[in-house]
Amino acid sequence: MAVDPLTDPERGGSFPRLHRLRRSARMREWLAETRFDSGRTVYPIFVRPGTAPREKLESMPGLFRYSAEDGARHAGEAFEAGVPAVLLFGQSGHKDARGRGAYSPDSAVTKCLRTIKQNWPSLVVLTDVCLCAYTDHGHCGVWSHGAVDNDATLEILQKVAVAHVRAGADFVAPSAMMDHQVGHLRSALDRAGFPGAGILGYSAKFASSFYGPFREAEGSAPTEGDRRGYQLDSRNGREALREIELDIAEGADMVMVKPALPSLDVIARARDRYHVPIAAYQVSGEYAMIKAAADRGWLDARAAAVESLAAIHRAGADVIVTYFALALARWEQELHE
Ligand code: PBG
Repeated sequence: MAVDPLTDPERGGSFPRLHRLRRSARMREWLAETRFDSGRTVYPIFVRPGTAPREKLESMPGLFRYSAEDGARHAGEAFEAGVPAVLLFGQSGHKDARGRGAYSPDSAVTKCLRTIKQNWPSLVVLTDVCLCAYTDHGHCGVWSHGAVDNDATLEILQKVAVAHVRAGADFVAPSAMMDHQVGHLRSALDRAGFPGAGILGYSAKFASSFYGPFREAEGSAPTEGDRRGYQLDSRNGREALREIELDIAEGADMVMVKPALPSLDVIARARDRYHVPIAAYQVSGEYAMIKAAADRGWLDARAAAVESLAAIHRAGADVIVTYFALALARWEQELHE
C-alpha cells in the first residue's frame, strides 16, 4: 500500500497543521482575512413627532424612540463615538390610507435631518423611504382590495424621497419593495434638482419574521393581510439576484440584502456578480435574539454581535446596518483605552 508522505508517522506526521496560523492573538490579528469595525456601520434611529422624552423599545432592549431633536442629538453622539452613518425611521401621528404624513416637510424625519445637518454636517444620513409607519392599514404602499397598488405607491414614494433630500438626506433608502421604485426615485430626484443624492435600494428584502420587533417599535404591523405579495419569498435566492440586478439597472448607487444572517448566500453571490457597494441589514429580530439570549445568560452579547458582523462582512457586505453600531464603536474605544 502506498504511504502518504504527509501523514506517515515515520516522517514526523507532517500533515497540514493549520494550528500554526493561530498560535497567538497577534498572529491571528496579522492573518485575519477580513476586518469589520464601526467605521463600516450604519446606525438606525427611530424618531416620532412631538417632543415627548425618549421611550424604551421593549422588544429591542437598549434602544429608544426619540423626538426629532433628541434623535438628532443621539445621532451626533453616535457620530462622535465613530459611527459614520445613520438611517432614520419616522412615523406619523396621523396615519391615513395613503401615508401622507411620510412626505410632510415637517415630519419627525425632516426635522431630525435638519438638526443633524446643522450640527454634524459630515455625518452621512440615510432615510428609510416607505409608507408602513404612516398608513392606517400598516402596508408599505397603497392598499386596495387585498393587495398593494404598486403604481399608485410609486408617486407617493417619489414625494417622500424628495422631501427627505430637500431636508438634507445624503441617501434615500426605499424599502417598500415596489417594482421600479428605484427608477422612479431616481427620476424624481433628478427632476427636483438633486442629481447628487444617492439611492440605497433595499433590493433583496425578504418577507421575514425577523422584522417582528421593528414592527412593534414602529407600530407598522399590517392590520390585514401580510407583506408576502411584495417582499421576497425566503426560499428564492435567484429571484433576490434579479431584484438586485433590476435596482442596479434603475440607478441604485448601492444595494442592500436583508435580513443579513439568514441571507449570507445572497450577499456572497451578489458580491461576486455586481460591483456596487453592498449593504446588509442585521435586522431587529437578529438583534433581539442576541439580546434576549444574553439577558438569560445563555450567550455573550458582545461576542455574538461581533461574530455575526464578521460573518456578514466575510460573506461580502461592505457596510452593515446594525442596531449594535454605537455599542460596537464604544467597545472599540474600550479596547484602545
Ligand atoms: C419598512 C421597513 C421594515 C424594516 C426596515 N424598513 C419593516 C418591514 O418591512 O416590515 C425592518 C427593519 C428591522 O426589522 O430591523 N418597510
